[in-house]
Amino acid sequence: MKKIGVLGAGTWGMALSRMLSNTGHAVTVWSAIEKEVDEFSTKRVHPNLPKMQIPDEIVFTKDIEEVCKEKDILLFAVPSVFVRSTTATAREFIPDGQIIVDVAKGIEADTLYTMSEVIQDELQKDGGHKNVKLVALSGPTHAEEVSLDMPTTIVSACSDMEAAELVQDVFMNTCMRVYTNGDTTGVELCGAMKNIIALAAGVSAGLGYGDNAKAALITRGMAEISRLGIAMGCMEQTFNGLAGIGDLIVTATSIHSRNNRAGHLIGQGYTPDEAVKEVGMVVEGINALPAAMKLKERYRVEMPIIEAINGVINEGADPAKTVKALMGRHKKTELSKSMLDLNFENTILKNKRSGGMKRVITYGTFDLLHYGHINLLRRAKALGDYLVVVLSSDEFNWNMKHKKCYFTYEQRKELLLATRYVDLVIPEESWEQKRNDVHEYHIDTFVMGDDWRGKFDFLKEEGVEVVYLPRTPEISTTQIKEDLNK
Ligand code: CTP
Repeated sequence: MKKIGVLGAGTWGMALSRMLSNTGHAVTVWSAIEKEVDEFSTKRVHPNLPKMQIPDEIVFTKDIEEVCKEKDILLFAVPSVFVRSTTATAREFIPDGQIIVDVAKGIEADTLYTMSEVIQDELQKDGGHKNVKLVALSGPTHAEEVSLDMPTTIVSACSDMEAAELVQDVFMNTCMRVYTNGDTTGVELCGAMKNIIALAAGVSAGLGYGDNAKAALITRGMAEISRLGIAMGCMEQTFNGLAGIGDLIVTATSIHSRNNRAGHLIGQGYTPDEAVKEVGMVVEGINALPAAMKLKERYRVEMPIIEAINGVINEGADPAKTVKALMGRHKKTELSKSMLDLNFENTILKNKRSGGMKRVITYGTFDLLHYGHINLLRRAKALGDYLVVVLSSDEFNWNMKHKKCYFTYEQRKELLLATRYVDLVIPEESWEQKRNDVHEYHIDTFVMGDDWRGKFDFLKEEGVEVVYLPRTPEISTTQIKEDLNK
């Protein structure tokens, strides 16, 4: 049995409180709205969850100290806009080392912090609270269904796996299955951004469009969110998981979703303000838009759907015209990045020899080793079993290529050898050495980026396979230097 303090008595806070109480935990619920405390503690029903009976064991309090004191877990379940102020009020009663579970979803517009970062930031304003463990709990979880014990799954995310697993143990029961994840930012980003896509799905339905449009918004919406997440350093898998695509599906398709409903009304001609009033509850997708637009700028990623819905909500754009504009965007490939991976797999399958070691060679400067280089090295290695990198020496760079490197030859060599793809690094001293190298090292395949296409075909005369791999778009050492110089 754990002692759990719940801050916030909204539908989600109460559905979780009921579940935790029914599974044997001692639950105390606090609300900033005193009227709620009086009503719930006597009537034992929540007006927005009329079918749910609030267990008698749940204690309600108006005293924030009481809810925070001596608890194994504190559950933050206030709307995202109140997370900072609630944390500030609770700070003096929260001990260092406390496990805090946040279920509010959102990104703070001015700091661009996720909700667990907001809590951490606010707690640490007193110079302490360095060991608080913040766990984000997020997934496809309508309070309405959890309150009726319907099967539900959720993700417990924390960089500290022990804390994530403890929360997994406490929240897991026959109706709720909890998975852990170490990518807290990814999980929280999904939680905040999916509301925007749900809003867009609602607008589309309100305009009278069907399931095709909805599926398109969900799929391409997730592509936007994961593009942003990857740029922020999150894990791609998180976006394909329960907190990612799982939560987006439920939010964008369910009748319970306020974002969906608000969008629906806007599609039918309500102004955003009228729609929010009509829904009567917080519409997190609208609140998340300013932060989403700033993140888009900061990480320079393309997010056309989110940009379009921002136009509708905040700039008075006409929903029907906005859809037309989205449909008329320039042509794209769905694969873009993963095309490289497909090539990579095909080449492995086609080129693996049954016997003997296949050797691959490539040439370059590899200064300020970047992901374009890594992509090339990974694919080069996949063409065989042993990869030799012939690395331009400092003299060769300066005299022949007219390049001044940031890192010395030795430093560049160390970096290359630290990757998992490179087996041997030897110096490049002249343009002519290639014919000799391929024989000396018994090379089967010569590889370069396709900026060199055709330039080394003469090596075929030496019995060597010559492969030019597609360069990774946009990134280069020169570009990095230029960007940093700006
Ligand atoms: N490469 C790549 N994709 C990139 C950059 C480089 O596939 N975005 C490949 C090149 O085609 C070459 C190897 O990586 O086969 C080494 O390239 P190098 O010239 O060292 O890297 P760049 O970043 O292109 O450097 P710079 O801009 O200074 O020329």
